[in-house]
Amino acid sequence: MFHPRSLAFGIAAVLALTASHGRSESPKQKEPPVLPNEAQVMQVKLKRSQALLEALTKEDFKQIEESANSLVRISKATEFLRAYKTEEYEFQARVFQRSAETLAEKAKAKNLDGATLAYLDMTVSCVACHSHFRGRKRD
Ligand code: HEC
Repeated sequence: MFHPRSLAFGIAAVLALTASHGRSESPKQKEPPVLPNEAQVMQVKLKRSQALLEALTKEDFKQIEESANSLVRISKATEFLRAYKTEEYEFQARVFQRSAETLAEKAKAKNLDGATLAYLDMTVSCVACHSHFRGRKRD
C-alpha cells in the first residue's frame, strides 16, 4: 500500500494539483520542488470534495469515482507530512480513506444512495479531524 512508487506518484499528483492553484512565484526555476504543506493539501481536498457534491447531484458516476480516488491517493501519499501524529489523527485519517474508498466503489457500482452515504461519512471525518485539532474532542 505504501510502496515508494505510489508515494512518489501521489506526491507528484498533489504537486501538480496545487501548482495549478495560481501560485505566481515562478516555481519553474532551478529550485528543488517544494513539497505542498498541509494547508495546500487541504485546499485540494476541499476542491475535490466540492466537486464530489456537484458530481453526486448530477449523478456523474465517473466524476465521483475519479474525485474519490484522487482523495484516497492524496490522503495516503501525504501521510508523512503530518507533523501532528496523534492517535486520533491516524484514526480519522483511516476513517477518511475508508469512506473515500467506499465512495469510489459505490460510484463504480452506480449506487447513488451508497455513494451519498459514503460522501456523508467522509464529510463527517473532515469535520471530526478538524474539530480534534481545535481541541474540541468529540467521541
Ligand atoms: C485526518 C485529519 C484530517 C482530515 C480527515 C481532513 N483534514 Fe483538513 N485539516 C487537517 C489539519 C491538521 C489542518 C490544519 C493544517 C494547517 O493549517 O497546517 C487542516 C486544514 C484544512 C483546511 C484549511 C487549510 C488552510 O488553507 O488553512 C481546509 C479547507 C481543510 N482542512 C479541508 C478539509 C476537507 C474538505 C476535508 C475532507 C474532505 C479534510 N480537510 C479532511 C486535518 C484533516
